[in-house]
Amino acid sequence: MLDSLATSEVVHTLQRAAQVIRWLPDPEPPPLAAPPVGRLRVGVDLGTAYLVLVVLDESGQPLAGEYQFAQVVRDGLVVDFVGAVDRLRGMKARVERRLGRELTHAASGYPPGVPLPEVRAVANVLESAGLRCTALVDEPTAANALLGVQTGAIVDVGGGTTGIAILQDGKVVYTADEATGGTHFSLVIAGAQGIEFEEAEALKTNPDEQSRLFPLVRPVMEKVASITARHVHASGVLVESLTLVGGTCAYPGMAQVVEQYTGIPAQVPLHPAFVTPLGFALHDEATI
Ligand SMILES: Nc1ncnc2c1ncn2[C@@H]1O[C@H](COP(=O)(O)OP(=O)(O)OP(=O)(O)O)[C@@H](O)[C@H]1O
Ligand SMILES: [Mg+2]
Repeated sequence: MLDSLATSEVVHTLQRAAQVIRWLPDPEPPPLAAPPVGRLRVGVDLGTAYLVLVVLDESGQPLAGEYQFAQVVRDGLVVDFVGAVDRLRGMKARVERRLGRELTHAASGYPPGVPLPEVRAVANVLESAGLRCTALVDEPTAANALLGVQTGAIVDVGGGTTGIAILQDGKVVYTADEATGGTHFSLVIAGAQGIEFEEAEALKTNPDEQSRLFPLVRPVMEKVASITARHVHASGVLVESLTLVGGTCAYPGMAQVVEQYTGIPAQVPLHPAFVTPLGFALHDEATI
């Protein structure tokens, strides 16, 4: 597995995703020179902290996408249906403008353990935004469509939660989800510095501030590591590698802290926030 992350294909896909997925406050990129031909695959990730829409071409390479900060979904539960539909519709329209082609379908998913009626709400958001929902998969299965882990654990540290998935022979055999994520990093920073949450969030994601703030967030990283260690133990699987995904794992030092605490080699792919959204897109099986 440790080799798979380094495969040039995964690295290339994530690099390309970071180039073409626009962060909403950035200026809108120009349209493609010509609309793409062939089958498109679309992934929508309704996360606690970010909404992501990504479009892949026939060969699985990212063509365009968008992500924006939004608090319309919490840990897989749609808490603001109208807001979620509204934002997704806007993302779809802007990405269509860039592509010069209509998007008609998409795949999405849910954190493991979310009750079925709530999962249906995710599909309803897509359908109401004009996207036929072709597949709903659990997040670690989606992430692994890109990563290709055979035996090991995928730890997804998003905005709200840490999701653990243990894989054997490429299949998810154990999952758990606990309430520690990037929001807690920001809360710790806000408390220690006596600042508002939004300011702490901006400091936390500023590469120039991250080494200064490291001692503050280290205990939260250790909490992620302790959750991981507990579930690895509970699964009874011999886990020899951890792959850390989700936006929070972009914080430098995360892999080292988790590795030291658990004693299991850990690594973070390039642009870890895009792994799950790309995995959703890889599950979009529509034929047009
Ligand atoms: N460079 C960075 N350094 C540290 N944290 C980051 C960085 N980039 C993003 N984050 C944090 O990652 C979190 C968002 O990650 P992600 O997009 O994976 O979450 P999500 O899918 O919206 O949430 P969840 O999976 O919990 O529903 C936020 O807390 C954000 O502040
Ligand atoms: Mg997520």
